Amino acid sequence: MSNTVLSFNSVSVVRDGNAILDGVEWNVTADQRWVILGANGAGKTTLVQLAAAASHPTSGTVTVLDEEVGKADLAELKPRIGYASSVLAGRIPKRETVLDVVMTAAYAVTGRWHEEYEEIDVRRAKRVLAEWKLDSLADRAFGTLSDGEKKRVQIARSVMTDPELLILDEPAASLDLGSREELVTLLGGYASDSRSPAMIVVTHHAEEIPIGFTHAMLLRDGAIVAAGELAATLTSENLSETFGLPIDVSSEGGRYTARARPQE
Ligand SMILES: Nc1ncnc2c1ncn2[C@@H]1O[C@H](COP(=O)(O)OP(=O)(O)O)[C@@H](O)[C@H]1O
Ligand SMILES: [Mg+2]
Repeated sequence: MSNTVLSFNSVSVVRDGNAILDGVEWNVTADQRWVILGANGAGKTTLVQLAAAASHPTSGTVTVLDEEVGKADLAELKPRIGYASSVLAGRIPKRETVLDVVMTAAYAVTGRWHEEYEEIDVRRAKRVLAEWKLDSLADRAFGTLSDGEKKRVQIARSVMTDPELLILDEPAASLDLGSREELVTLLGGYASDSRSPAMIVVTHHAEEIPIGFTHAMLLRDGAIVAAGELAATLTSENLSETFGLPIDVSSEGGRYTARARPQE
């Protein structure tokens, strides 16, 4: 059996007559952890929405977990994919407790209605909360959390169903330095665990790439500038082309830094 979890075959997305993604080829296997880098508007969110089976390509095929997006039964596919983005965060009721936000994922619903939760769900939710350093916040209302805590709750919710693919769209956006480092460290631990699912994380910043990530895709104007093994892909040359200005990349201890090259 193939351990491919995701493949894109000449995938294009056209909106309002504009090609937002153009001829994307991509393959992700279960042991890989991908970072997607690109400027605002490069097409990153459009790309991961396809990978999350949350939208369809205009042409080409997207196959997720052996199901073709657009043809598969979404109700069966969705719980197998963990997906967190700021848009989804906005749909979480502010008064819902942290434990409920995470536990309701077991039923793939947002907001707690009348479900009866199994004891096994409660136990799993508590374990997931502990994994993401949220155990002391289980009874807090989601709306009262800090930005960093909210991001961790969203990730905990995304992994509650034990997905085979985890997709995080800009998980560290808007976080202060301490919260960012806390999150990147947790993501690094998760990525480094061989029991974890395939991961795709979108970011603008090389500094937000966690340890344990194996691959990178660099996107510019809906097309791939470079994609492949992380160290070979995240070069100064490729990043300069991606962001359209001269950039120097360096790495230390598995973490990356990128800065504009000083003009002569
Ligand atoms: N539904 C849509 N209709 C028209 N244009 C869109 C739509 N969604 C995204 N776009 C445009 O597609 C481009 C890529 O968007 P997006 O995937 O959100 O980029 P990123 O996440 O890299 O910032 C942007 O120029 C955006 O304005
Ligand atoms: Mg985006």
